[in-house]
Amino acid sequence: MGSYASQHCVIAIDGPAASGKSSVARKLARQLGFVYVNSGAIYRAITWHFLQTKIRPEESERIAESLDSAVLTCVVREGEARIVVDDVDPALHLRDDRVNESVSRVSKLPRVREIVSQRLHDCAEGRDVVIEGRDIGSVVFPDTPYKFYIDASPEVRLQRRAAQGERDEITVRDRDDVSRAVSPLVKAKDAHVIDTSYVTVEQVVTEIITRLEQVGLPISDVQITDRALGE
Ligand code: CDP
Repeated sequence: MGSYASQHCVIAIDGPAASGKSSVARKLARQLGFVYVNSGAIYRAITWHFLQTKIRPEESERIAESLDSAVLTCVVREGEARIVVDDVDPALHLRDDRVNESVSRVSKLPRVREIVSQRLHDCAEGRDVVIEGRDIGSVVFPDTPYKFYIDASPEVRLQRRAAQGERDEITVRDRDDVSRAVSPLVKAKDAHVIDTSYVTVEQVVTEIITRLEQVGLPISDVQITDRALGE
C-alpha cells in the first residue's frame, strides 16, 4: 500500500464475545483497504476439525499430536483471511452450536495457541491487516501501536447474540476466556477502550480512525472515501 511505504501494519481489535468487534473490524478493514483477519474463526476451524475427527476437546494430548499432522493454511480471498484445514474450508460450520460449545476448551491449549499465533503472523506477512480476537494486542502482536479493546455491557452482548439466532453461552465462554492460564482475554495496557453498547458500528469505526491518525498512522482521505463509497 503506497502510503505506508514498506512498513506493514497490524491493527489489533480485542474484546469479549458479541462486543461488536467483528462488524467493526470488518468495516474498518474495508475502509482502509486492509485485509480482515478473524482469529476466532481460526480457533473455530480447528475446533470443527477435531469434532469431525471425533477427538473430544478435553483430549488435549491427542489434539496436540494430531495438530502437528494437520495442514492449516491461511488464504486471503476478497480482502479476508480464511483458514483451510487439510484442504477443507469449514467456513459454513464455524458458528455451529457444537463449535460454540467447545471452542473455548480447545483455545486454551498451549499448542493450539502457538499454531494459531504462527498462522496470524503468516497472514500479516507483507500486508496491512486488521486482526480481531482476544489476545492480539496483548500477546500475538504486542509491539503494534494500534490496539483497541471493544467492549459492551453484558446485557447488550447477550441481546446481540440472541438476535443473531445462535445458541451460544457467551457468559460461559467469557469466563473461560478470561480465566485460562495461557493468553487470557485482557485489556492490553496501551489499548484504546471503546464501549459499543449505545453507539453504531460507523461511530466506532470513525473513533478508531481518529485515534489511528492521532497515534501516527497516515491515512489518506482518498483511501477512506473511495472505500466507504464503494460499499
Ligand atoms: O463469536 P465471538 O466473537 O464471541 O467469538 P470468536 O471471536 O469467534 O472466538 C471464539 C472463541 O475463540 C473465543 O471464545 C475464544 O475462546 C477463542 N479465541 C481465543 O482464544 N483467542 C483469540 N484471539 C480469538 C478467539
